[in-house]
Amino acid sequence: MINERELIREALEARKCSHSPYSHFAVGAALLCSDGQIVRGANVENASFGGTICAERSAFLAAISMGKRDFEAVAIVGAPHGDEIGEICAPCGICRQFMSEFCGADFKIVLFDGEKPVMRTLGELLPDTFVLKGDD
Ligand code: THU
Repeated sequence: MINERELIREALEARKCSHSPYSHFAVGAALLCSDGQIVRGANVENASFGGTICAERSAFLAAISMGKRDFEAVAIVGAPHGDEIGEICAPCGICRQFMSEFCGADFKIVLFDGEKPVMRTLGELLPDTFVLKGDD
């Protein structure tokens, strides 16, 4: 069982660390690892815009760099600077593909519309996933 509200609270905290001087859109993510640890991430933009890293990829990169490989769920929250969360912030296409490297179709994606959790699975957001068989 995952605690969606707790994950959303963690994602809201992570959002405070966003570096988003170009889009002025701050995103936070909280990744629940299978060992119970929650790893946070924020979007980190770059003057060379293509160098920007989304919040959910930041969380995955941090967790993977800590040796984590198994994940249960991720919460993602986003809104313009200074605004409260008003609508869901669904993961971009790159992040969907990135998550599919480590997570199966039943991986839970917890979105937040400002009032309540909105639940999705990776399989719903990325059907017919492209996969290659790697070595490890
Ligand atoms: N962004 C995320 O961090 N996650 C998403 O799921 C969607 C978009 C970021 C990237 C960029 O810093 C800003 O939001 C505007 O696109």
